[in-house]
Amino acid sequence: MGRTSKDKRDVYYRLAKENGWRARSAFKLLQLDEEFQLFQGPHLAGVTRAVDLCAAPGSWSQVLSQKIGGQGSGHVVAVDLQAMAPLPGVLQIQGDITQLSTAKEIIQHFEGCPADLVVCDGAPDVTGLHDVDEYMQAQLLLAALNIATHVLKPGGCFVAKIFRGRDVTLIYSQLRVFFSSVLCAKPRSSRNSSIEAFAVCQGYDPPAGFLPDLTKPLLDHSYDFNQLDGPTRIIVPFVTCGDLSSYDSDRSYPLDLEDGSEYKYTPPTQPPISPPYQEACTLKKKGRLAKEIRPQDCPISTVDAMPQPLAAPQRHTLLPSEVEDNGMNCSP
Ligand SMILES: C[S@@+](CC[C@H](N)C(=O)[O-])C[C@H]1O[C@@H](n2cnc3c(N)ncnc32)[C@H](O)[C@@H]1O
Repeated sequence: MGRTSKDKRDVYYRLAKENGWRARSAFKLLQLDEEFQLFQGPHLAGVTRAVDLCAAPGSWSQVLSQKIGGQGSGHVVAVDLQAMAPLPGVLQIQGDITQLSTAKEIIQHFEGCPADLVVCDGAPDVTGLHDVDEYMQAQLLLAALNIATHVLKPGGCFVAKIFRGRDVTLIYSQLRVFFSSVLCAKPRSSRNSSIEAFAVCQGYDPPAGFLPDLTKPLLDHSYDFNQLDGPTRIIVPFVTCGDLSSYDSDRSYPLDLEDGSEYKYTPPTQPPISPPYQEACTLKKKGRLAKEIRPQDCPISTVDAMPQPLAAPQRHTLLPSEVEDNGMNCSP
């Protein structure tokens, strides 16, 4: 597969590189902002402090720092499990947002000067088992919400990726406990074929007497969940956003775009500096990535020689000299 084929298959990937964004996700936040004016901030005072949870490689942080602009370092705090190349004016924390220590580090930063906006584009490594993936995604969202309840100012806004699975109503109900408006939005740049959407929660307004507590799991049934049944069940509006006549994220486009611009290959703006799939890419290039052997494909003598089910999995650990590139040529 040539290096231009992804440019053809994924027009937002191509446009992101051409516009200097680190990832195609930038368009999702820009399109959500077009619809919901996320940067107007509480009481139209404008957003001056924001948190970007699950931020790597950093295109949402780029959007946040451009929109907030000129506020100096620390007005945008970006957090991710993975290391992220620096961005001017963005303070970075490397850590797991589901861990107490990371949450405390973030919260500490906003003590006395709360944030106007918390965004979370977090996605777990999907397994293909839908129930497991939805559960993991929901846990990320709840960890992000828990952090948001500590750092958001009243009237603040929270935007988080959700998977529109079977139990998503429960999450909407939880979000409605804390925000006066909750919508589900699907930006044009998010593929229709994906169950991804974004919960856009505006008007942070926790219940009277609510004390944020990192050690208490949200989705606790002591909060008001009786809207889940019957005619009082919450139906969250579903909104598509972004210009619907613009590029369709599920289509392939010719390399010369319809607006007449001539195709010129653009390399990625900022390749991930230490992606988790790096080891697999290096092994693949060297032809050393283990392939699954199915018993039906093997002669009987080989089947007999195959490891027994309880054999310990073999793991290859790379020596530093074996790691040679940043893995950008290999899709995760
Ligand atoms: C879709 S990417 C985010 C893209 C980003 N919004 C951008 O615009 O560049 C999802 C990110 O979630 C991060 N992530 C997943 N689980 C996490 C966790 N528990 N804590 C922190 N980051 C996490 C991954 O490392 C990954 O970088």
